[in-house]
Amino acid sequence: MIQAPFSDLAIYIESKKYIGTTVDFNALKKLGCFVLKNAIPENVIGEYYANYKKLLSSGLIKKDDYHLTLVELGAADELQKIVFNKDFFEVASKFFEGRVGSDFVRIVKKDSTNFSKVFLHQDTGYQIGGFEKYSLFIALTECNEDNGGLTLLPGTHHFGYLGDAGEINEKILPKNYPRITPNAEPGDILIMHSSTWHESPQSKNLKDRVYLEVHIQPLDEPTTRWEICGKRTSNWVLHANEDQIFKDSRTQRIRRMAAELKKTNLQ
Ligand SMILES: [Fe+2]
Repeated sequence: MIQAPFSDLAIYIESKKYIGTTVDFNALKKLGCFVLKNAIPENVIGEYYANYKKLLSSGLIKKDDYHLTLVELGAADELQKIVFNKDFFEVASKFFEGRVGSDFVRIVKKDSTNFSKVFLHQDTGYQIGGFEKYSLFIALTECNEDNGGLTLLPGTHHFGYLGDAGEINEKILPKNYPRITPNAEPGDILIMHSSTWHESPQSKNLKDRVYLEVHIQPLDEPTTRWEICGKRTSNWVLHANEDQIFKDSRTQRIRRMAAELKKTNLQ
């Protein structure tokens, strides 16, 4: 049902070509993921992490009730400013022939209160626009197997958008399909093509596992909010959230059902 060029993947995985201090774009293209070491200096990461903790404890930002790890940054401009950081620019500007935009910046976190496993999925089905996009997960803390760090299934982005959004049945894959769970240190960036299948285990040690996620895309995508590199030339703009775009979407239906269920249970 599914075939993948395992020997080709193995060459890149076994020699750890997906880890480096500069992005190997051949490896990224093959595997749909790359671990960029020491991309953002320690003092900058320290400031962002301290800011994140402050905003979270003050209640200015909080985990989304309908998502396992998401913290939206609506009121947290200081964390979104990472898109203008010079070290971040160095990395992002190498993509999309130097014309790079971003449509969202957010936190995905686990800690002593949110520690659940995240099911196998790809992000493309939850996003708007074209399919050539990447998440740059900047580690604000150590992120690894023990605290529920990301696990990626290299190469799965070649399958493209899967036609729906949700938990992927991993049984569809050949047994022993390779998995990568990087040991990211603060300041490393885990780069992931948005179609790459990924999941994350339950946190064992309940320590903070915090990624500052910057989603990058071709600058002229209608959803671009931040011009990271270059100036937009397109006249097409789409700055609207799901509730503005849709009258009756799947997510809206799920939220409505959850609210109705809660009401019923309280009666
Ligand atoms: Fe995801």
